[in-house]
Amino acid sequence: LYFHSCAESHFMETSKLLTAAALRSEDRVVFVTGGAGTICSMQTRALVRLGANACIIGRNVEKTEAAAKDIATARSGAKVIGIGGCDVRKVDSLNDAAMRCAKELGGIDFVIAGAAGNFLVSMQAMSSNAFKSVMDIDVLGTFNTIKATMPYLLKSSDARIICISATFHFTGMPMQGHVAAAKASVDSLMASVALEYGPRGVTSNVISPGAIAETEGALRLVSPDKEALKKYAKSIPAGRLGTVKDIADATVYLFSSAGSWVNGHVLVVDGGSWRRQGAA
Ligand code: HXC
Repeated sequence: LYFHSCAESHFMETSKLLTAAALRSEDRVVFVTGGAGTICSMQTRALVRLGANACIIGRNVEKTEAAAKDIATARSGAKVIGIGGCDVRKVDSLNDAAMRCAKELGGIDFVIAGAAGNFLVSMQAMSSNAFKSVMDIDVLGTFNTIKATMPYLLKSSDARIICISATFHFTGMPMQGHVAAAKASVDSLMASVALEYGPRGVTSNVISPGAIAETEGALRLVSPDKEALKKYAKSIPAGRLGTVKDIADATVYLFSSAGSWVNGHVLVVDGGSWRRQGAA
């Protein structure tokens, strides 16, 4: 129904679940940090295609505004705002973005905390500031996003939060110690938000994506060359790399009426890979 971008021709079939989800997304407003990124832009596109309006946040002004324009093409009449120059490490800039979103789009119902920092580096080569940068973007940034949007979420009749995590922290991962530590904290933060705000009508969950074919981040982690990548894809228990559509589908589920009783959950969307992580 909503799949687009470099593979616009791959329109997916509409399942009964997604039809229900479409009804759920109408007139909803989604606030997305890291919204110009490969995964988050497709999550946003899916929701917009199904009836939501969106506000995407990013550090790079041009990239964020271009992504907003592109996402808006998902549905005629869609309203999509791109707010660039916003760093999730600074809560004031998120407060301003949330206020603008609510003013221009009428509120905030869904939040995707997707902004993340990542690079491959050994513990020994990593500076304290490099470690801190990723912790700040991923953990403090997720906290700031939730803090800035919560006043609006509490006014929504049915509010939902999704934080984007990873799977490295389930087992540990060489060259990703900083990211694994940060994502473990994101999962933990989400659990506390679920308990604290669930009773007030705000559900909170995590999506943990595995290796997604379209993302540079996943590919550079997984493999430097095509042959090794094919071998890696075969090693995935579900037999293939993930796609951004896999993550968008999981997002639609959690934000749909079908996902209304899911709260405090880490939804791993990785073809079962994490269960083999570290195996020879
Ligand atoms: C070692 C590095 C480095 C690298 C930066 N640093 N890049 N150290 N290897 N490749 C160090 C810097 O030297 C500096 O430390 C510190 O990190 C901060 O860097 P700055 O560039 O000054 O900071 P900032 O502008 O805040 O940028 C932070 C950043 C960010 C984390 C580097 O720009 C970034 O994340 N870029 C990549 C974005 C990205 O790939 N996102 C994908 C997320 S996807 P010193 O000590 O010199 O001051 C994802 C999931 C993928 O996470 C996994 C799927 C399976």
